[in-house]
Formats: sequence, structure tokens, C-alpha cells
Amino acid sequence: MGNNGLSKVTVIGAGNIGGTLAQRLAESDVAGEVVLFDIVEGLPQGKALDIQESAPVVGFSTRISGSTRLEEAVEGADLVILTAGLARKPGMSRSDLLGRNAQIVRGHAEAIREKAPHAVVIVVTNPVDVMAYHVWKTTGFPRERVIAESGTLDSARFRWFVAEALGVTPRDVVGFTLGTHGDTMVPVLSHCSVNGVPVTRLLPPEKLKAIVERTKKGGGEIVELLKTGSAYYAPSAAQLEMALAVARNEHRLISCSVLLDGEFGFKDVFLSVPVVVGRNGFSRIHEIELTPEERKALESSAKAVQEDLKLLAMMPL
Ligand code: APR
Repeated sequence: MGNNGLSKVTVIGAGNIGGTLAQRLAESDVAGEVVLFDIVEGLPQGKALDIQESAPVVGFSTRISGSTRLEEAVEGADLVILTAGLARKPGMSRSDLLGRNAQIVRGHAEAIREKAPHAVVIVVTNPVDVMAYHVWKTTGFPRERVIAESGTLDSARFRWFVAEALGVTPRDVVGFTLGTHGDTMVPVLSHCSVNGVPVTRLLPPEKLKAIVERTKKGGGEIVELLKTGSAYYAPSAAQLEMALAVARNEHRLISCSVLLDGEFGFKDVFLSVPVVVGRNGFSRIHEIELTPEERKALESSAKAVQEDLKLLAMMPL
């Protein structure tokens, strides 16, 4: 479909995130075909049919189907988005979750390697920066074609909190977070602006500090409100932002988690950094200047992911 769309996009996992993302993708009309895959028989088929039946009213042409057959679902896909996984349950340790999700994601990565060897892969399953590394290793794909969502979602939350504090439309707030998708993420105040006016000139330091803290805990705030389950509207919107950048070859400069090879002083670790995203994944990493404080925070971020990668390396997967 040239620069304005893809033939086939596969969404792995038809849960809250996968289902909502499939709907957003279908409604964006950027793919001839969207396939939703899950291990629960009937779930991807049911959600796909439900979304498909909205087409005459919403007005999209995308064909959407559901499947529980992995190889068929990913075969020939141009873009695969991995959202399948378990959420952390009471009594489950961090390393239990990491191990379980790594196992799930590994099977998907192997199928992608065999059946969609030219695909761009977007990783969403948590802990996302670690899962992205695992997917990259398992597929053996060039690093440009494995990108993970964390920066796009956290940046959306960050931008909204700034917009809310200033009473301006969120469309005019530009800015991003770097690092991990977790407590050590780095909302970058030094590069956040309202159409070019630095936020540091518009809001007092205490307010900015509060926004940074709220952004870091953004996922937890939603979990606390929902009580069972976690966020999926903003996450799926952030994933769509990445998917559109790929599908339309937009060359967007957005914050995505990618494998670093010396950039920002880190190697062999996935972290969210500003990258240019288009049809072949990411093409460039922009090593922007950070304040000493932000730099220090990014180091803590890298350390946290590296610790998890060590755990992953010790697991018999
Ligand atoms: N293959 C395919 N699908 C699977 C597998 C598997 N091996 N294991 C689990 N799933 C599916 C589940 O059946 C479920 O439909 O993954 C889906 C997960 O959906 P939800 O529990 O609703 O979780 P969701 O909120 O969508 O989050 C998915 O994204 O942000 C991350 O932390 C989040 O890792 C989680 C993932």
C-alpha cells in the first residue's frame, strides 16, 4: 500500500489493550487487514467481528478478523504489535512476572521470525523495556525493526498534566519522557514547551515537580482507580501513534524504547529515547542535551533495566 498504509497488521493479545488497539487501527484505515490473535478461543474472533460490524457506521474499509492460530495470524504481516501477557497478580513476584511474560513473548517472537521476517515489531507487554530486548534477541531482527512503547504513553500523560495545569489544549504541549516505563522514567522538563515556550517559564518549580511525580506514577494512579485491571485507552492511543508513524512512513520524532548501542552512553539495553520512526522502524536516535539532574535520572533508569536483563539472562526459557 505504498507510503500510506500497510497490507497486514497483526495484534497479538486480544485483551483490553489489544482489543482497543485493534479498534483504533481499523478506524484509522491504515491497513488492508488487521488480525487479532489470542489463545482464548472465541475472544479475538468475537472482538474482531464486533469491530468489523461497526464499519458501515464508522466508515472504514479495513478487514478485521480474529484468530487463535499463531502462525497463520502473523504470516506476511508488515507490522506486529505484541500486547499479550499476564498482569501482575497478588503474590506474584516481579521476577515471576518477568519469567512468565518472557515465555509468552518468546513464542510470538519465534513465529514472527519464521512467518513475518520483514515485519516491524512494536512491543507492549510488560516489563516492556526487558520484553523488547527479549524479542529483539529472539527474532534476530536489526535493532531498527524492534521498538517498544513506553515513551509514547508516558509522554502523553506528561503532556496532558502540563496542559491541564496551564489550561491550554494538549495539542499545543510538546515534550517527552525518556528511560524506562516505570518508577525511574525521566519526564524531560528541559525540552517541554507550549508551542516553543518552555514550561519552565510558565509554571513554578513546585508545580513542575508535582507533574513529574504524577507522570511517573501515571500507570499506578489508573490501577488504583480501576481496582481491577490497568490502563488501556491512553496506552492503545500511544501504540496507535507509533503504528501510524510506521504505516504512513511519517518520520515522527517520538520517544520509543529502542536498543542503545552507545547512544547516551549506554549499550545493550532498551530505553526510551527520541527516535525518528517511519516505515522501516526507527532510523535515527537523537542524543539531546539533558540537565545534570535528568542525566542522573536516566542513569538510574538504565540501571533498573539492566538489573532486569540480568534476571532474564538467568532464567531457563
Ligand atoms: N498468547 C496469546 N495471548 C495471550 C497469551 C499467549 N500465550 N497469554 C495471555 N494472552 C492474552 C490473554 O488471553 C489476554 O486476552 O493476553 C491478553 C492480555 O489482556 P489483558 O489481561 O486485558 O491485559 P492488557 O491490559 O491488554 O495488557 C496487556 O500490556 O501494558 C501491558 O502490562 C500490560 O503486559 C500487559 C499487556
